[in-house]
Amino acid sequence: MVVLVTGANGQLGQAIQSISGKYPEIDFVFCSSSDLDITNLENCQAVFSNYQPQFCINAAAYTAVDKAESEPAKAFDINANGPENLAITCKKFNTILIHISTDFVFDAYFSDGIAYYDRELRLPLKSDFGLTETDVPFPSGVYGLTKLQGEQAIQANWEKHFIIRTSWVYSQFGNNFMKTMLRLASERDSLSVVADQIGTPTNAVDLAEVLIKIIQSSNHPSSFGIYNFSNERQCSWYDFANEIFRQKGVSIDLKPIPTSAYPTPAKRPAYSVLDKTKIKSTFDIKINDWQTSLSACLKQL
Ligand SMILES: NC(=O)c1ccc[n+]([C@@H]2O[C@H](COP(=O)([O-])OP(=O)(O)OC[C@H]3O[C@@H](n4cnc5c(N)ncnc54)[C@H](OP(=O)(O)O)[C@@H]3O)[C@@H](O)[C@H]2O)c1
Repeated sequence: MVVLVTGANGQLGQAIQSISGKYPEIDFVFCSSSDLDITNLENCQAVFSNYQPQFCINAAAYTAVDKAESEPAKAFDINANGPENLAITCKKFNTILIHISTDFVFDAYFSDGIAYYDRELRLPLKSDFGLTETDVPFPSGVYGLTKLQGEQAIQANWEKHFIIRTSWVYSQFGNNFMKTMLRLASERDSLSVVADQIGTPTNAVDLAEVLIKIIQSSNHPSSFGIYNFSNERQCSWYDFANEIFRQKGVSIDLKPIPTSAYPTPAKRPAYSVLDKTKIKSTFDIKINDWQTSLSACLKQL
């Protein structure tokens, strides 16, 4: 079985590469952005023609959340046109497309201790476990909007797809919050981290394992559609930083601050915990809590 991975040098792409040796039955084709530019339809079709993949994992994306506010056309090209090109190409080659999306398609928030997922309609969450796949997306920034447009382009063009929404991805690879915290701690005596945005960290290696599990599952095509995946439980960015330093034995003066004290070009959701009931029951998976997965990742550093 041939599985083609786009964006192979990104965090998730490298995480998939790191576990690929465990699956000799899968013939992985890892494509960097120079091997396969997802914004170029002809390039996509030429590469697919060469490898004839049964599955394509789209790990390519424009992920610079703040920069996207000043580069909306580039973000749209990579996050919306790119998935559309892949969907058209997958249809032509009858390839199942596994696309990665984000919790930033939502803009949920708290009021009086209740989480609501929509600022205009003020609808409370349907599930006690977080945002579900059927909650109405409502992105607040360019990144989230273009990722939602990418999901919609896939849905409009090719039914054989899985869209996996994930959150707060980190790993031993690339740039991410965990590595930034450890770097800053080596440079400073104190740090202030936002404590009023609640979500769940996701170890990219756990996500990579779930993607393989989906590929190996026997319940396609009835399972095509949108799924949430992150590690279990929830925390704030401050809690996440605190746990990184606790597990690493780093001593630092860590201060919790409100979002208002750390203005950024892009607005972030105040609440983005994802309900994983659907992915757990459909693919029979158990998910580690975020502290356990953080520990596994820190051991790899
Ligand atoms: N990181 C997070 O916290 C987070 C949270 C939720 C969801 N996600 C989603 O998870 C997925 C993986 O994210 P990640 O953290 O692994 O991202 P990443 O580390 O930023 O990697 C993205 C990769 O996409 C490649 N790329 C950019 N433009 C491309 C193009 N036109 N054609 C082909 N490849 C292109 C980049 O290659 P170059 O370096 O060569 O440009 C890079 O290797 C993305 O869909 C992202 O939206 C991420």
